[in-house]
Amino acid sequence: MSCPQSFSPLKIAHRGAAGYCPENTMASYKKAIELGADFIEIDIRLSRDGELVVIHDPTLERTTDGIGYVCDQDFAVLRQLDAGSWFHRDFKNECIPSFEELLDRLLPQAGILIELKTPSQYPGIEEKLAGEIIKRNLHQKETPILMVQSFDTRSVKKLHLLLPSIPVGVLIKHNPKGISGKKLKELSAFAHFINPKQTMMTAKLKKRIHEHGMKTFTWTVNNQKKIRKFERMNLDGITTDFPDLFQKRP
Ligand code: G3P
Ligand code: CA
Repeated sequence: MSCPQSFSPLKIAHRGAAGYCPENTMASYKKAIELGADFIEIDIRLSRDGELVVIHDPTLERTTDGIGYVCDQDFAVLRQLDAGSWFHRDFKNECIPSFEELLDRLLPQAGILIELKTPSQYPGIEEKLAGEIIKRNLHQKETPILMVQSFDTRSVKKLHLLLPSIPVGVLIKHNPKGISGKKLKELSAFAHFINPKQTMMTAKLKKRIHEHGMKTFTWTVNNQKKIRKFERMNLDGITTDFPDLFQKRP
């Protein structure tokens, strides 16, 4: 199974339209769809009672009125938190979404690019995610509407073994030394795409990734000039907080 390729580059909305709305909330996802995103990037973790919840940080303080670790609270408690006011008082009714809710409310208006956040801290998160996807038969779509990524290569590999039909990718932090040929070969055994930080992305790197049979995404590009540059480079996907910065499609 390859990555969805009807459009290039895929417009990937980071944590929804996080430049306009509180990240990882329904308001942010709705805005991203309104602005024409092809995929919405989300961050998932597990609550204490094993629910897949959508929140970027391991702790609650930055984006909610709660305190402490996400993994120390049951979903019912997390659900009561205000996940919008930190951004603007107009969003005071926004809450932490569950992954199940997202599947029900976002598909098929946009695809979902799921990031497994520090998965080694949430044992069983890959199995839980795979279970939710299988329950809805979402792994059997002809054109994939879900993709999974992580900085944690081992977790990406595990997810690939559980669900070989779902495109998976590896996020790469900036490394001035670039990505070695050995690493690209190793990743190409299971990854469908590589998603390096934009500061590393060059036409040469794109070519090397393609030569290894993988697609090339980059994150998180919030400047129109840079988006144009990556559009001209024909990357396969660009992640942004501002999905309206992309060139209009004919
Ligand atoms: O899509 C890439 C990006 O989401 C990775 O970084 O910290 O925004 O989750 P972060
Ligand atoms: Ca992310």
